[in-house]
Amino acid sequence: MHIIGLLVCAGMLQLLLLGGSHCAAFYTEKPSYIESCRIYEPAFTNCSTRSIQRFMNQVIKGIPEIEESFGPIDPMKQDQLVFQQDNSDVATISANLTDMLIRGFGKMVIKESRVSKTDFSWLTKIYLPTMRLDCKYQMIGRILLVPLRGGGDMFLEIDDLNILMSTKTSLYEKGGYTFYNITSTRVKLDVGKVKTHMEDLFNGHSKEVERGANQFFNDNWRDLFEALRPLVDETVERTMLKLLQNMFSLIPANFFVEDIPNSLNLYGRKTQLIA
Ligand SMILES: *[C@@H]1O[C@H](CO)[C@@H](O)[C@H](O)[C@H]1NC(C)=O
Ligand SMILES: *[C@@H]1O[C@H](CO)[C@@H](O)[C@H](O)[C@H]1NC(C)=O
Ligand SMILES: *[C@@H]1O[C@H](CO)[C@@H](O)[C@H](O)[C@H]1NC(C)=O
Repeated sequence: MHIIGLLVCAGMLQLLLLGGSHCAAFYTEKPSYIESCRIYEPAFTNCSTRSIQRFMNQVIKGIPEIEESFGPIDPMKQDQLVFQQDNSDVATISANLTDMLIRGFGKMVIKESRVSKTDFSWLTKIYLPTMRLDCKYQMIGRILLVPLRGGGDMFLEIDDLNILMSTKTSLYEKGGYTFYNITSTRVKLDVGKVKTHMEDLFNGHSKEVERGANQFFNDNWRDLFEALRPLVDETVERTMLKLLQNMFSLIPANFFVEDIPNSLNLYGRKTQLIA
């Protein structure tokens, strides 16, 4: 059992520090699966990489508070994605993805976890042996010159996925601890191999043309991935942002970076209290 603090939000001081935001439960005692690192020591990146990997292993096994609000990590359910991309060289797509199920984050390898000493943003290298997305799609547009108008089940499977993730954070104080506010995350993806299948590409009108188009996409998977890259980027970014926001609103930044500065010292007391 870990100790969970429930912040009482009635106090004037706490309201000020929280900027008037909501009350939330969070860990007030460091769980044994988190290894603390010191950012002003030379081996920090090694320590941080090891620490984040151990933490992710525990998240994958299941941390009750994270499962409760986010759900399981693998397979991972996601809300719908409405996607619009106009006039790129390779694709014009308007797509709605629903009933999204993402597999593969359970085998996540943290290859490197860097934290900036100046603004506490992160640069994280992640490797997934396989990531597979299953969903229902509605799509109108053109991929690799193939005009599409259809909808049905689809999957996209990526082998050897390297994710370079840039995360922006700001620090804030809650209940005497410093926390990360995860404000944005951007990814650059590098893929080994991509497979796909889209059912009812032409509203099921011509099964033969559908088979041909799927064959063509798989034969030309590098070009297919370039066409779908913005859509896949957005899927991964949204997934990671939600997961990170969930994890780091629950666990203080101090538990990961023991010597992280207090946000009041980092940004200056005046601006923080007034903001
Ligand atoms: C960090 O780990 C790498 C290998 O994983 C090693 O080569 C390097 O010397 C380590 N750096 C420090 C500062 O411990
Ligand atoms: C996606 O859904 C929106 C409404 O949420 C709709 O306006 C749009 O036409 C849909 N796009 C496709 C390709 O079905
Ligand atoms: C976190 O950042 C967002 C946007 O940058 C901001 O609106 C929100 O108030 C911040 N939350 C806290 C607790 O600092």
